[in-house]
Amino acid sequence: MASPLKLAVIPGDGTGPEVTAEALKVLAAIAKLEGFTYETTTFDWGGERYLKTGETLPAGGADELRKFDAIYLGAVGHPDVKPGILEKGLLLELRFQLDQYVNLRPVKLFPGVECPLVGKGPEHIDFVVVRENTEDMYAGIGGWLKKHTADEVATQTAVYTRKGCERVIRWAFDYTMKRNNPKGKMLTLVAKTNVLTYGHDLWWRTFQDVAKDYPEVKADYNHVDACCMWMVKNPEYYDVIVTTNMFGDIITDLGAMIQGGLGVASGGNINPDKGGVSMYEPMGGSAPKYTGQNVINPIAAIAAMSMLLEHSGQPKAGARVMDAIQKVTGTKMKSQNAGKMGYGTKEVGDLVIAHL
Ligand code: IPM
Ligand code: MN
Repeated sequence: MASPLKLAVIPGDGTGPEVTAEALKVLAAIAKLEGFTYETTTFDWGGERYLKTGETLPAGGADELRKFDAIYLGAVGHPDVKPGILEKGLLLELRFQLDQYVNLRPVKLFPGVECPLVGKGPEHIDFVVVRENTEDMYAGIGGWLKKHTADEVATQTAVYTRKGCERVIRWAFDYTMKRNNPKGKMLTLVAKTNVLTYGHDLWWRTFQDVAKDYPEVKADYNHVDACCMWMVKNPEYYDVIVTTNMFGDIITDLGAMIQGGLGVASGGNINPDKGGVSMYEPMGGSAPKYTGQNVINPIAAIAAMSMLLEHSGQPKAGARVMDAIQKVTGTKMKSQNAGKMGYGTKEVGDLVIAHL
């Protein structure tokens, strides 16, 4: 028998544990149906622990996670913890230490989900953003001069490396090939080459070089500002987008809105290298004001589990979960907003299981 899928689970803060519970419920059901086994180990990392111990990612924490096949993260963010501490100390720290250089964010409008764009339906909104996840302004390079004086200067440096952009661009081309869009395979580089003439020139040249290895894929380019317009006006234009960390952060929030909000958007932080460990998460935050009320939407969390399965050796199980999600959004749920779904958090989890 195949060895069990070993999962590290970090439920996190606020409503994180509630949506994680639903994702795990669905995992239990699909494992039974598809006949695979798994083990979970839960880590109590997040705001509560930080308030007690002062630790965000405990010493040796990333090494501990390297022993797993994948990581599932609920949500981090606690009202009593200053903004930035958990985001940087836990989430970004894990992405960096585990070198999860691909941030994969599907922008897919599920059936039945309300879209703020007039006249657009699921047939128009179905693309994927591949965001670089380890460099750019996120590298944490910068500093102050004459801090707290009237002459203060601050720098925050965007760092791009040939290796860093090449590996994620190559992954994005491979992904575009596998995705095999019947409308034609196209990878759009989103950057700002007209202004960021050093760093994004490196991205541009690397993109052109790597594109030569993928003659079947149309290598396309958009400036990031234009991309924001097209995402609203013609989202059907896109197949796969590859972009820098900072721009990817911004355009994927726009993406989340056109696909129906944070209640449905999920993402993966992927290290595709041999021995790499990837982490999947719903995109929404910990929504502390809804904690314990059974009103938060678990669809994003369940979709994150579907992604985890897809990328961790159980693609059939992942696809089946994705299918069930779409049946539930398409035929059952009134809304994707907390408290307005027509069902509670747990009931939505049950519905997905019933539709597997
Ligand atoms: C995201 C989040 C994070 C980011 C924050 C919480 C640091 O916004 O996953 O997009 O900026 O990457
Ligand atoms: Mn973000």
